[in-house]
Amino acid sequence: MVAITYVEHDGTEHAVDVDEQMSLMEGATLNMVPGVEGMCGGICSCATCHCYIPDEWQSQMPPLSDGENSMLENAIDRRANSRLGCQIPVTPALEGMRVELPEEQA
Ligand code: FES
Repeated sequence: MVAITYVEHDGTEHAVDVDEQMSLMEGATLNMVPGVEGMCGGICSCATCHCYIPDEWQSQMPPLSDGENSMLENAIDRRANSRLGCQIPVTPALEGMRVELPEEQA
């Protein structure tokens, strides 16, 4: 299990343990974290798993694929550090990670 803290737009924190090999989206939805919907089930076709990755965790992120980048164009309030949680596998290297969530999902 990997400790991940999801932070809602209002600062409310949800500290959960996520199974390795799940995605950041699955870690949020299975733990009922508000603000992550994951409507497409993780196939990169809805952008309702939009999240913001803090600078200190950027080096641990997989590359942004063309498909993810394209889907993020539909996300509300996209930022330079926007990612889709379903495209980020949880690994031990993410122990202690914080994931920030947008005010609303696309
Ligand atoms: S869950 Fe649909 S794009 Fe991530």
